Amino acid sequence: MRYIPANSTIGVFGSGQLGRMFAIEARKMGYRVHTFSPDADTPTGHISDVETTASYDDLDAVREFARSVDVVTFEFENVPAATVEAAAEFVPVHPKGEVLHTTQNRLREKTFLSANGFPVAPFRHIKTLDDLHRGVLEIGTPAVLKTAGFGYDGKGQRKIAAVGEVDEAFAGLDGRDAILECFIDFEKEVSVVVARGQDGSFAHYGVIENEHSNHILDVSFAPADVSEAVFAEAVEITRSIAEQFGYVGTMCVEFFLTSNGKILVNEIAPRPHNSGHLTFGPCVTSQFEQQVRAVCGLPLGSSEFLRPAAMANLLGDIWATGEPDWAKALATPGVSLHLYGKADPRPGRKMGHLTAVADSAAEAVGIVTQSRATLS
Ligand SMILES: Nc1ncnc2c1ncn2[C@@H]1O[C@H](COP(=O)(O)OP(=O)(O)O)[C@@H](O)[C@H]1O
Ligand SMILES: [Mg+2]
Repeated sequence: MRYIPANSTIGVFGSGQLGRMFAIEARKMGYRVHTFSPDADTPTGHISDVETTASYDDLDAVREFARSVDVVTFEFENVPAATVEAAAEFVPVHPKGEVLHTTQNRLREKTFLSANGFPVAPFRHIKTLDDLHRGVLEIGTPAVLKTAGFGYDGKGQRKIAAVGEVDEAFAGLDGRDAILECFIDFEKEVSVVVARGQDGSFAHYGVIENEHSNHILDVSFAPADVSEAVFAEAVEITRSIAEQFGYVGTMCVEFFLTSNGKILVNEIAPRPHNSGHLTFGPCVTSQFEQQVRAVCGLPLGSSEFLRPAAMANLLGDIWATGEPDWAKALATPGVSLHLYGKADPRPGRKMGHLTAVADSAAEAVGIVTQSRATLS
């Protein structure tokens, strides 16, 4: 256990909205923040004391960064292993590099999960066209082909509906390593956000229900509409994964729930997660504050929801005719606006989100979605 006192500097690899909200919570608690990423003028940089713009492969810059901070964490998991190792020469890094290595690659992640007895959709490693032909025969159609590395918001994925699509799907991989997964006709998607401290302490936010649109998270709400048995199993699987990893920080596991009550792990995020944005405001301690507490050796906070909550993402699409009229969205009582300070609102790009609390999760969903509808 290494206690990092206030006024120390927390280093963050990555500079997006997750790092921004982490930095807001870190600063609230009296920490300084230094962000490191290849970009400049970033969502995290706006809130940080220091912003380094350098390639993750520039190990001299990484060492200089690590020497200037007291602890390092991440908001982005696709940081190369060598970068993490270089930082770890100088300061504690949470979660540890091994966890990133496993979770940043879908093949390693799924192999870790199935080897440890966690339920996942049937999958195959795809390196050659032959592998893909065989995989489709064994797994059946529909199936989903996903590049092993660097996937987010559905990027690097395609559905294979029939054997006839195999050649074209393989060509689309462009030589990248991939996995083929059984397509799950799920009833719903849920996630569990947890935090684990350096002393093994554990906190969870229960089960959050997620609706995606075009493979991008659209709306989340909590508590999820699931049975007690599903709740207990999803939380226990997530706790157990965090334990296996010796995890320190905030982590999220995404699940598919099938209509016959089966739970399958979809993926692990070794960081705060978009579905946990509804903890920022509606909970005693947000997922970002839990990460601050965990990496600084402080006790975890209460993860209690003060009221049922919902979140709706704001994508760049609603900027089509210029800056949205925020006054309209905020005219709905109970709505909070979060914007990430991104200058370039491209379609599909996460620009911000709305949260709301109400007497029930369904009511909170109604409030955020109605509020968002006023913007387009
Ligand atoms: N095997 C699958 N069966 C059905 N839907 C899937 C499958 N894999 C992914 N999806 C859909 O695509 C979304 C994004 O896929 P995911 O694997 O979580 O990648 P990422 O979030 O990294 O882009 C999922 O949340 C789900 O809605
Ligand atoms: Mg996902």
